[in-house]
Amino acid sequence: MLAIFQFAVGAAAALLAMRQRRIYQQALRLGSATLETLLNAIDANDEDTGQHVRRVAQYALELADAAGLSEHEKRSVERVALFHDIGKIHEALFDILHDPSKLSPDAKRAIMTHPLRGAEVLEPLCAFYPDLSAGVLAHHERWDGRGYPRGRKGRHIPQAARIVAIVDAFDAITHRRRYSRARSLREAREALLAGRGTQFDPDLVDLFLSPVVQESIAKIRVEPGDRGKRHNRRGERVQSAPDLIFRWRPAKPARRSPRRRRRTAS
Ligand SMILES: [Fe+2]
Repeated sequence: MLAIFQFAVGAAAALLAMRQRRIYQQALRLGSATLETLLNAIDANDEDTGQHVRRVAQYALELADAAGLSEHEKRSVERVALFHDIGKIHEALFDILHDPSKLSPDAKRAIMTHPLRGAEVLEPLCAFYPDLSAGVLAHHERWDGRGYPRGRKGRHIPQAARIVAIVDAFDAITHRRRYSRARSLREAREALLAGRGTQFDPDLVDLFLSPVVQESIAKIRVEPGDRGKRHNRRGERVQSAPDLIFRWRPAKPARRSPRRRRRTAS
């Protein structure tokens, strides 16, 4: 009798554990889907920004990896990198950002609101991704405290934001954008060294410019990779995110049932 009771308790515990695991997996998938939806919104608003944030995320992951961050921390860095400019999709900044002429002082001031706007957009996700909003808010802070919007200094700036600040500047220099031509790797290196210890975390700059990280960055620049490319229902190419946070996707598309196939064919 006791054995039957113990068996029943064991079976119930196993079922409960399976159920909890399923709920956890569903929560992860929902989180990733939410982030991908946000990324789609960035693409829909401005494809250039969509490409920029993906490059920044890839570079940020290389730097985070070299800095010895844990898998959990790397995911956090990737999220901050992917959404650091989400504040730019705000309607108030759209005309300014899509105007190729030189920015007026007022326009520059308006653009400087994008970290705060981005942090506000992401605030509801705080319960799930506690570092995301703070990282996005701080990505234009400077190591010497002369950045914006809060003027935070040194290690008071979240690490993800310090990483993103460096790779964001690197991409802005080396990639052609609507309002500026692409400059050489040498120029990017000089700009990062000029900001070492003033604009940027000096240790992270050294790490980013180290041969091992630059080798990985060069590979990403030469082979942006097909893994992020996919097509929407209209056959247009759309972008996806780097793999890390979206690994919940099934490796192969689910097979449709014969019944559904018949219905589609008719
Ligand atoms: Fe920014």
